[in-house]
Amino acid sequence: MATKAKTVFYCTSCGNESPKWMGRCPACGEWNTMVEAPAEPKKGSASGAGCPARSERRPQPLREIDYSQDARISLGLGEVDRILGGGMVPGSLVLIGGEPGIGKSTLSLQIPLSCKDLRTLYVTGEESARQVGMRARRLGGDDSNCSIFCETLIGSVIEEARAMMPDLMIVDSVQTMYTDTVESAPGSVSQIKEVAAALLRFAKESGVPVILIGHITKDGYIAGPKILEHIVDVVLQFEGENRGSYRILRSIKNRFGSTSELAVFEMTGSGLREVANPSEMLIPMHEQGLSGTAIAAMLDGTRPLLFEVQALVSSAVYGTAQRSATGFDARRLNMLLAVLEKRAGFHLSAKDVFLNMAGGLRVSDPACDLAVICAVLSSNFDFAIPSDVCFAGEVGLSGEIRPVGQLDRRVQEAARLGFRRIFVSSFAKVEVKPENLRVVKVADVPALVKALFK
Ligand code: TYD
Ligand code: MG
Repeated sequence: MATKAKTVFYCTSCGNESPKWMGRCPACGEWNTMVEAPAEPKKGSASGAGCPARSERRPQPLREIDYSQDARISLGLGEVDRILGGGMVPGSLVLIGGEPGIGKSTLSLQIPLSCKDLRTLYVTGEESARQVGMRARRLGGDDSNCSIFCETLIGSVIEEARAMMPDLMIVDSVQTMYTDTVESAPGSVSQIKEVAAALLRFAKESGVPVILIGHITKDGYIAGPKILEHIVDVVLQFEGENRGSYRILRSIKNRFGSTSELAVFEMTGSGLREVANPSEMLIPMHEQGLSGTAIAAMLDGTRPLLFEVQALVSSAVYGTAQRSATGFDARRLNMLLAVLEKRAGFHLSAKDVFLNMAGGLRVSDPACDLAVICAVLSSNFDFAIPSDVCFAGEVGLSGEIRPVGQLDRRVQEAARLGFRRIFVSSFAKVEVKPENLRVVKVADVPALVKALFK
């Protein structure tokens, strides 16, 4: 008698597993995210194969563990090395996620092209070797030590990698790879899990670092299942406005370094170019300030970053005012507008408000609040804020301006970029005293308006 193949259900949002379908995932609370996938056999599954028997493993005293050979591998792109925490750790699995067309394949091909000593195995399931070759030529080099392997069966990929033992392996992309131990189609939850687990096992056993590319869905989930993020060591997200030329690489998980580091690249005709000093690119070129813009001094991981916040306030054409924010939380914008209305008496309820962060940046640092309200007021009154002024402060519900973390670094960066005044909370403590920069302390929104727009 044939036994029915067992299936389980996975949540595409958090990876939670359940024996039966549910409308709402009990783990993350998301609706309609459960998908059916064949159950993994408990024994002899691909993820369990190749593990040494228990008797071969011994607990090791911590002080005797030899970590000296774990020197980091430089990838030849300074900014990528920096986000990884100083190069790639041998045997690590790094996931680069991003929307289609953002430049993941370009970035991963530029690594072997810019670091010619690295023997690289570039596995592609998306393009032909010819296409990769053409791209490499376009990126200005085909004399690297890189081999292109067009294969989608993960078993063959790993076999080839074992034979070659490269210094670095790149797999583009996880959605196109499949294993024949699972029956579902490539790109499904169980295939992605198996492929990632197989690559992780290969990386840990052989010490070869692996870069895995994954497409993300519109909601920002890598390959649908979040589970991939639990498996890999490092998750880098590649984002940016597709129309614009700037791309941002952000680390959202890093077992070997700090997260929320960010690197900026520019997409040019000959590939991605690193932008070493993003503040200089994100602050405006125009000499005399235009109304509706303000410079925020935000902190991105450990690095201070100054950029332009742009706002447009106009009378609402329709009955209800429109509010739209690009790169900024729309709910936070509504809150700040309510604070301006209620605590400072500005009538904005009948106005359309559009907000944009320069360079396709997505910000979540509350220190940007002050620049947001200044940009809104500046556009509302058509009053240009001087171009040598910047802001770093959080705005509270009662209109008070609250101090933000690591202010000294922000102040120093503002001074380095030639700003003359920085507005901060009156409760903030600033230790550094740069020569040409005046730190202006304001307690609340009315005080800020008085100091700035008088
Ligand atoms: P790609 O790396 O193929 O994206 P992904 O792998 O994330 O899907 O990048 C594709 C885009 O990059 C495409 O719109 C063309 C652009 N591009 C350049 O502008 N310059 C270049 O030198 C290259 C190689 C690509
Ligand atoms: Mg690609």
